[in-house]
Amino acid sequence: MHAMHARLPKHFVLEERLERYADAIEVCPASYRGRWAQACWPLGEPSADGAAAGTAAFDEVRVDLGCGKGSFVAASAHNAPNALFVGLDAEPLCMAYAAQRIMEEGLRNAVVVPALGDALPRIFAPGEVSVIHLNFPTPYPRKRDATRRLVALERLMDYRRVLAPGGTVRLRTDSQPLRDFTLTQLALAGYKVVYASEDERADHPDEPTSEYEQRLCSQGATVLGLWATPGPEPGNVTQTASLSLVDYLPESLFEGGYVPHGMEQTVYNLRRRKR
Ligand SMILES: C[S@@+](CC[C@H](N)C(=O)[O-])C[C@H]1O[C@@H](n2cnc3c(N)ncnc32)[C@H](O)[C@@H]1O
Repeated sequence: MHAMHARLPKHFVLEERLERYADAIEVCPASYRGRWAQACWPLGEPSADGAAAGTAAFDEVRVDLGCGKGSFVAASAHNAPNALFVGLDAEPLCMAYAAQRIMEEGLRNAVVVPALGDALPRIFAPGEVSVIHLNFPTPYPRKRDATRRLVALERLMDYRRVLAPGGTVRLRTDSQPLRDFTLTQLALAGYKVVYASEDERADHPDEPTSEYEQRLCSQGATVLGLWATPGPEPGNVTQTASLSLVDYLPESLFEGGYVPHGMEQTVYNLRRRKR
C-alpha cells in the first residue's frame, strides 16, 4: 500500500481498522482484471434479471479515483444497485474510512482498492470501466507536480485504455485553474467534451456529494463539472500546455472571491504582491 502522510485521529489504530473492514478492501486488485463485474457479484444471489449466481454480473463497473473517505462511492452504490463501484485511493486512512462506511451500510456493490491512479491499466482490462469519477482531485498546483494530477495527459491516456466505448471521465472540482488545465489535457489526449458546467450541482441536484464537495461548498465553492469521452486516438501525444496552475488563475481572482482549494497560499502571496 502506498504510504501517504495523514494525521491519525486519537485512539485510531490504522492496522486494526484495515483488518476489521478488510472484506471491503481488495488488496490484490490485478487478480480481478477483466472480471470485476462477475467476480464481485454477491455470492449465492441471482441477478436482477434472474440469471443464476455464477453467470450473474453487474451491468457496469464505475471507478471513483481518489475516492477519499467514500461518501460518494457509498451513496452512488445505494442509488445504482446494478453497478459495481470501485473506489481507489492512495491514502490508507481514507481506505479504512471508506471500507468502514461500505460495511456498516451493508453495501454489496462497492469495494475499495488501495492504489495510485497510474495503476488503472493494471487493475482493469480494456473496455471494463464505464465511468471514471474524479471528484475534487488533489490539484498539485506547482509545475513540478503536474504529472501527479489525476487529469494529467499521461493519466488521460491510461483512462482511454480501460474505458468502455462511450465511457466517460467525469471531473468535478472547485478549481477553475484545474478545470482549465484539464481542458488542455483532454484536447491533447483526444477526448471529446460532452458536458461542461459552471454549476454542476444545479444541473444534477440528486447526484451524491463527496466529503470535499460538502466542505468546499460550505466555504463558498461552486462545483465545476466536465464530462469527456475518448475520440480517435491522437497520433502524436506531446505535452504542450502550461503546467503551473498559477498560469490559469483569472485576473478577477486578484480582486477577491473564492480561492480554489490547494491554492490559498499562492493566491494570498499573489494578491499581496499585486497590492
Ligand atoms: C482532495 S481529496 C478528494 C477526496 C474525495 N474524492 C472527495 O471529493 O471528497 C483527494 C483524494 O485523492 C487522493 N489522491 C491524490 N492523488 C492520488 C493518486 N495519484 N492516486 C490515488 N489517489 C490519489 C488523496 O489521497 C485524497 O484522498
